[in-house]
Amino acid sequence: MLPTDRHLLAIEGMLPPQIAPLLDLAESYVLLNRTGTAPRERLRGRTLINLFFEDSTRTRTSFELAGKRLGADVITMSVATSSVNKGETLLDTAATLNAMQCDLLVVRHAASGAPALLARKVEAAVINAGDGTHEHPTQALLDALTIRRRRATLEGLTVAICGDVLHSRVARSNIHLLTAMGSRVRVVGPPTLIPAEIERLGVSVHHDMRTGLAGVDVVMMLRLQQERMARGLVPSAREYFRFYGLDATKLAWAAPGALVMHPGPMNRGVEISSDVADHPTQSVIREQVEMGVAVRMAVLDVLSRHGANG
Ligand code: NCD
Repeated sequence: MLPTDRHLLAIEGMLPPQIAPLLDLAESYVLLNRTGTAPRERLRGRTLINLFFEDSTRTRTSFELAGKRLGADVITMSVATSSVNKGETLLDTAATLNAMQCDLLVVRHAASGAPALLARKVEAAVINAGDGTHEHPTQALLDALTIRRRRATLEGLTVAICGDVLHSRVARSNIHLLTAMGSRVRVVGPPTLIPAEIERLGVSVHHDMRTGLAGVDVVMMLRLQQERMARGLVPSAREYFRFYGLDATKLAWAAPGALVMHPGPMNRGVEISSDVADHPTQSVIREQVEMGVAVRMAVLDVLSRHGANG
C-alpha cells in the first residue's frame, strides 16, 4: 500500500518503506487503545461497510471495533442477511454500495480476487479481509506487529509457518510480508498441504516438523481448513496431530522461548495442543487479537486520507 494507494488488496508487491510506517502507526494505536484515548474524530462522518460473504468472528468484530474507535459509522452486512442470497451479483452489490456513499469497504469473499473486482467498481477504499486462498493482508500486518513488539525487529528472524499452507491466505500474506522485511521463512507440512513451487516465494519447504522447527524464533500454526478441501488430504485428525500438531515436545525443537502464533479459529488437539496454545510466556495468540484492532485502525486511518472524500 503506497501512501497514494486507495485500497489494501494484497501484501504482495508492498515494500518495507510502505510496511514499516503502517506498523509504526499501528503501534501508536496500541497505546491509544490501552489508555482509551483513540481519536474518535479521526473518521467522524465516514461510513465503513463490512461486507462478509464468508464466516468470520474476529476479523469482522475487529474491523467493527477499529472503525468505531475512530468515530466512523459502521455497518456490517453478512451474507446470511443480504440480498446476495437472492442472487444479486457482486457488481450489483457494488452499485448499491456506491449509491450509499460508503467511504471504506471491508470485504471477505470465498473467491480469490473478489475484493479486487469490487475495487474497480466502487468509489470506496477497499480493504481485503480475506479472499479465497489468495491473501489476508491485515492478518499479516497484525502478525508482523505482534512479532516486532516481542522481538524488536523482523529482520534476521526465522519463522516456521506450519500446517495447511495450501488453503491458507494467511500463509500467503505472511510469506510476502515476512520475506520483504528480511525474515527467513520455512513452510512446514505434509506434501498434500504444501502448494507446488512455493519455493518461488523465497521460502524453504520442510515435511518434517523436527527439521522444520529446528531453532526457529517463531512458530506460526495454521488451521486445518477442511471446508476448502475437495477430498481427504489428511488421513485423520488424530494422525495429523501426531505428525504436524504443535505440542510441547515439538515446540522444544524451536529456539528457547520461541513465539507461538495462530490466526484463529483454532482446532485444539488437531493443529495445536491446549497447553501450547495457552502457554503463559510463549503463546502470543491473544496479543495477535489485540494487535488486530490496532492494525485495522492504522489501515482505516491511512486509507481514509486518500478516499474519495479524503
Ligand atoms: C483466518 C482466515 O479467515 O483466513 N482467520 C482469521 O482471519 N482470523 C484463518 C482461518 O480461517 O483459518
